[in-house]
Amino acid sequence: MSRRARFLEVLGIADEWVLRRAPALPEAVEPSAMAGLADPSAEVTAVHEDTASREAAQAAVTLAAVADARVDEAQAEAAPSAWSAQADMDAAAPAPATAEVAVARMPPEPVAADTSTREAVIARLDWAALEQRVCGCNDCQLCDGRTQTVFGVGDRQAEWMLVGEAPGENEDKQGEPFVGQAGKLLDNMLAAVGLARGRNVFIANVLKCRPPGNRNPEPEEVAQCEPYLRRQIALIQPKLIVVLGRFAAQSLLRTTTPIGKLRGTVHSYEGIPVVVTYHPAYLLRTLSDKARAWEDLCLAREVHARAGAKA
Ligand code: URA
Repeated sequence: MSRRARFLEVLGIADEWVLRRAPALPEAVEPSAMAGLADPSAEVTAVHEDTASREAAQAAVTLAAVADARVDEAQAEAAPSAWSAQADMDAAAPAPATAEVAVARMPPEPVAADTSTREAVIARLDWAALEQRVCGCNDCQLCDGRTQTVFGVGDRQAEWMLVGEAPGENEDKQGEPFVGQAGKLLDNMLAAVGLARGRNVFIANVLKCRPPGNRNPEPEEVAQCEPYLRRQIALIQPKLIVVLGRFAAQSLLRTTTPIGKLRGTVHSYEGIPVVVTYHPAYLLRTLSDKARAWEDLCLAREVHARAGAKA
């Protein structure tokens, strides 16, 4: 079974989507880098509804719904078009299908002049010291409700870095990001582009502690936690960052632009290319956006290949 077929099967839409056309790859893309993948520019269209897969997806929705309600609401608010039917899909901003992607440059971060500030101290920590500091962090109110911090997991020399929002209930218990239903979908999405958790991928969240009841993170909590993510990125120096969901995208890119507009463009964080896609928890509930997530992954893979990456 091809990677694409496997990916669609995992998403529960194996019987719903067919390629309408499959144009040639853009010249600049190494064919080997795209081997086994659907052409990102290929159009997909729904042809019929598979009741069984809908039911399976619905079961996953129910499981994920409580833990990830905040993501659902946030996405709906920020990108209403993501919630509407097929007609709206056509109206939403399409992902670019070519290697000619606009790089949206973010303003450079102000250099910390005072080397004794909290941020400057964190910015100098090595892995061991950073992990220890996060583990014992009491710098915001989230420390009161957590079981443990969730530092991040994976290959510390990874070329791919994935950034989500915050630990949920399962992650808080297990100390690892994306271990619930959304995490299973994420693992399958990674597998579809030849990646695996911990092998050339590092997964982290903007927040290292679970917000109680999975509520939206407060700006102050983000402000306190952001230096940790910033340092993780600086230590890993990934060739690509894939941001999962509205909250992480808006935090990392310091913008209020809705996710529907952020996806499809290659952004930049400290000079590292950033591709934005939907949060896996949202995808569990919104079948109509899964094809778009696939487009995003294809774009990410293309950007990664262009960055002169090894794998
Ligand atoms: N959602 C996230 O954004 N991160 C996790 O680790 C789990 C769920």
